[in-house]
Amino acid sequence: MSNRMIWNQTAHFGAGAIREIPGELATRGFARAFVVSDQVLVDTGVTGRVTALLDAAGFPYEVYSDVTPNPPIEAVQKGVAAFAASGADVLIGIGGGSPQDTCKAIGIITTNPEFADVRSLEGVAATKNPAVPIIAVPTTAGTASETTINYVITDVERSRKFVCVDPHAIPVVAVVDSEMMSSAPRSLKVATGLDALTHAIEGYTTKGAWELSDLFHLKAITTIAQSLRAAADGDADAADRMALAQYIAGMGYSNVGLGLVHGMAHPLGAFYNAPHGVANGILLAPVMAFNADATGERFRDIAVAFQVPGAAALPVAEARTAAVDAVAAFTRELGNPTTLREIGAKEADLPALAQAAFDDVCTGGNPRDVSVEQILALYTSIY
Ligand SMILES: NC(=O)c1ccc[n+]([C@@H]2O[C@H](COP(=O)([O-])OP(=O)(O)OC[C@H]3O[C@@H](n4cnc5c(N)ncnc54)[C@H](O)[C@@H]3O)[C@@H](O)[C@H]2O)c1
Ligand SMILES: [Fe+2]
Repeated sequence: MSNRMIWNQTAHFGAGAIREIPGELATRGFARAFVVSDQVLVDTGVTGRVTALLDAAGFPYEVYSDVTPNPPIEAVQKGVAAFAASGADVLIGIGGGSPQDTCKAIGIITTNPEFADVRSLEGVAATKNPAVPIIAVPTTAGTASETTINYVITDVERSRKFVCVDPHAIPVVAVVDSEMMSSAPRSLKVATGLDALTHAIEGYTTKGAWELSDLFHLKAITTIAQSLRAAADGDADAADRMALAQYIAGMGYSNVGLGLVHGMAHPLGAFYNAPHGVANGILLAPVMAFNADATGERFRDIAVAFQVPGAAALPVAEARTAAVDAVAAFTRELGNPTTLREIGAKEADLPALAQAAFDDVCTGGNPRDVSVEQILALYTSIY
């Protein structure tokens, strides 16, 4: 039995780290960039913070901003055509998970055109070539798409969100600059922070977890437990810690997988366009309660990370309950919704959602095996 870890070639961290981008472009010998972002980020000047640096360096580029949250297949296909027309030799993804994931899919299809339908990339795709080189600049402290081998695309026609897992898609450079995230509204910081917490907790308890991934996930859980509230309220130091913690979680989960929270969150994105982090925040504590008996001593570590008094010495069953309660209180106090109704879910859809969650790539990593009926019962319990 062996384990594999895949990370970026280079990553820069800290407020102002985007200033490293022109140097990265020059030393890697690139000549022209294709920037993938979204219209909100262009309109609010977030994308412009990076393109201003390219302007100052005299580096040519064009911006593609036709990306919406839960990015659809069409955004990828239009992007592939626009990239080809641009003559660019490097991609720069600037945004939350949606532009980052679109950027990865554009990069993969450009070098592996037999996957131009996008749908055939679902799961572990047999691509032969690395994607066009990507420099990834996240604007949310959440997905860690800048360092993962995954990307998630939405098939609007079939109401499906599908996960693609492909080491060829990992950005060569990540630039994790908390100042790029500071303009996010509080609700977005909360939702994306809960996505990061979910990555850390699911990564810590997933079937493939091992010593090295544990290091990252435990560190991320502890930091997020202590920093998300203050970061959401605008504290710059806490925002720096969140930016790093979500990346650290990505270094882990990208390599070992996730679980049922993500499996159940993806259909909510596909059916109702629910923000990914909000969906995870609703599901995290209830799914933890479902999984508790299959997690050994690991929930005790989570309770300790959330500073539950005496957690280290509690009987294991109580430690597990304490972890679930701490996470439930944390998400509630942050103001994330707690029911599916609040994100527009319809009761009649629950059986179809349950089947889609059962089929999701992430569900196989869940520590407890689960049936469609059990998923339906879970959805129903939080409806
Ligand atoms: N690739 C991966 O490994 C991975 C992991 C988890 C989630 N995802 C996917 O990522 C997507 C979610 O990404 P996300 O949660 O980062 O949000 P997002 O990219 O969908 O953005 C949500 C909204 O926030 C806005 N926004 C982003 N940054 C901002 C900023 N700094 N200031 C103001 N507004 C800002 C965007 O313009 C958009 O309107 C989902 O599709 C999810 O499935 C991918
Ligand atoms: Fe996620």
